[in-house]
Amino acid sequence: MSLIPKETVDQVLAQADITEVVGDFVSLKKKGQNMWACCPFHHEKSPSFSVSPAKGIYKCFGCGKAGNSVQFIMDVEGTSFPEAIKYLAKKYSIEVPEDNPNPEYAKEQSERDSLFIVSDFANKHFQQNLHTHEQGGIGMSYLKQRGMSANTIKKYELGYSVDEWTDLTDAALKAGYQQKYLEATGLTIAKEDGKKYDRFRGRVMFPIHNVSGRVVGFGARTLKTNDKKSPKYLNSPESDIYHKSNVLYGLFQAKQAIRMQDMCYMVEGYLDVLSLHQGGIENVVASSGTSLTEGQIKLIARYTENITVLYDGDAAGIKASLRGIDLILESGLNVDVVTFPEGEDPDSYIQKVGDTAFKAYIKEHSQDFISFKTSLYAAEAKGSPVKKAEAIREIVASIAKIPDSIKRTVFFRSCSLIFDIDEQVLISEYNKMQLQDRQQPKQQDWPEQYMAPPVAEPEPEKPVSDLDMLKRYEREIVRMLLNYPDRVLEEGMNTCQYMLEQLEDVEFRTPLYARLMELIKDKLCDGNLATAEDFINHPDQEIRTEATNLLSDPHELSHNWETHHIFVPTESDLLPYGAERAVLRLKWRNVELMIKGEMEKLRLVTDPQEQIQQLTFIRNLKTLHCQLGDMLGIVIG
Ligand code: CTP
Ligand code: MN
Repeated sequence: MSLIPKETVDQVLAQADITEVVGDFVSLKKKGQNMWACCPFHHEKSPSFSVSPAKGIYKCFGCGKAGNSVQFIMDVEGTSFPEAIKYLAKKYSIEVPEDNPNPEYAKEQSERDSLFIVSDFANKHFQQNLHTHEQGGIGMSYLKQRGMSANTIKKYELGYSVDEWTDLTDAALKAGYQQKYLEATGLTIAKEDGKKYDRFRGRVMFPIHNVSGRVVGFGARTLKTNDKKSPKYLNSPESDIYHKSNVLYGLFQAKQAIRMQDMCYMVEGYLDVLSLHQGGIENVVASSGTSLTEGQIKLIARYTENITVLYDGDAAGIKASLRGIDLILESGLNVDVVTFPEGEDPDSYIQKVGDTAFKAYIKEHSQDFISFKTSLYAAEAKGSPVKKAEAIREIVASIAKIPDSIKRTVFFRSCSLIFDIDEQVLISEYNKMQLQDRQQPKQQDWPEQYMAPPVAEPEPEKPVSDLDMLKRYEREIVRMLLNYPDRVLEEGMNTCQYMLEQLEDVEFRTPLYARLMELIKDKLCDGNLATAEDFINHPDQEIRTEATNLLSDPHELSHNWETHHIFVPTESDLLPYGAERAVLRLKWRNVELMIKGEMEKLRLVTDPQEQIQQLTFIRNLKTLHCQLGDMLGIVIG
């Protein structure tokens, strides 16, 4: 449920200019009637992403993403509809009143907002400490010693918590923030006797942002190198705004780069992120020491399908992370792995060898996860048949997690090479596993696709079904209606009137087009022509997307033709003819299907009287079919 009143949404839709909105993210060049750029949603070298200022929509002919301004923000920022509206409202200085019929929800919302607000205060306070507090120099010199530039410190909003018991708590209370929110975010710890103190003291502060850039929690590193008493890192506890399993450190700063490179580097620590980013590898995030969760993988999947995991050098750590990586495979993403020399982590290694050598290293040492895991186990299993059998089971289990059957086949092959064992043995191991899983459904609920046989069987080419065929003709009608609703075709009748009249008795069989037709009819009954905006801004996603597709015409007239003064008739020029043909074609197909249906019925009729009636009906339909065919110039033998 959107919390934003409809008037505000309308106002935003009316004011948001698609070229301005998109222009904040990519640089558009004018060509013909449209503007073009390289698509922000997939990697490409030549522009196939177009924006139509006239229609207020964008469409990528490479990856198919399309929509209006709001959809663009939803896609590019990975946010919900209301958040996209808020973003645009802010851009155009439109006030968003948050009217809410549900007071419980409103209260919850404002509680959450209070947590965001107090976290934001703390973030500013810690930064201020780092730069201006008398103790700040301690933090600053630590960061400098770790190689952090002023730019990195600023971009990641690093801060410092001074070594006193209540510095932050006092400052926050004095500024009017309520203690309960300080406690709810874990910034202040209150003891039973009422005494309260700051959680973070004498530490370098790493604020953790959610994808839209709001601070939800903190990581904090001690400066003491060998203090066994206090942990190296302290983190904010879970709260209403901080769910560790759904946050990735650095994603807010990295998301644009991840999308552009179509790849995400995954590291373990805060400093790994900072060092790589500073070294020019900006598409990097950290799981912050915990093992990867499904929620985190989903977050990455919004931006790319490709993850490269950068591991610390020690084998124990690697083994521990393997499970998390199986999770990535399960979600259908591609995983590569790079390991570093013993004792090095990505941060220490890039600091040691420099940016250029580091980049060359990861390029050279990156390998796909399955081969990585296979080599890892193969080395261990050398000379021990028992271990080898175990190892094979392990790897087959990983391969089994890959949803895509073609990818699975490829991995079975490479695994068979590394282990020097017959592919068929692996496949039968896999089948055995599948069988066991089937017999023990409680153990794990396997999605259907993992049950499929491991060897990719080419799907038999399906003939185009009757309904698919019909769908094309229905689509054509709706496309013309959306593109040229008010073009006058003949004797004062516009496209909309003409088509609705002609197709009065024709029922659309494709649900989506039936709905669109319904909407157009409703509008016309109210005395209005449905406009493109009605559909591009429709609350239903499916309608918005289809309408956008129908409104984008890839066959834009090339410039050359115009400059050479060669007249090429456009669809618009030929509309009266085109509309008539589209109507005839749809009718022709419909009658054909009716004949099919009535023939079926005929087989079930036993009463001779009824049989004759039915036959007559079919004969009439056939005559009609022929007439329509004639009009279309279709010759039937
Ligand atoms: N971590 C944590 N709590 C700890 C130790 C580690 O939350 N007590 C998390 C932190 O996010 C840390 C990551 O795990 O960044 C990796 O830990 P580790 O490899 O021990 O630290 P480094 O990132 O290498 O930290 P540094 O380089 O500062 O020593
Ligand atoms: Mn480190």
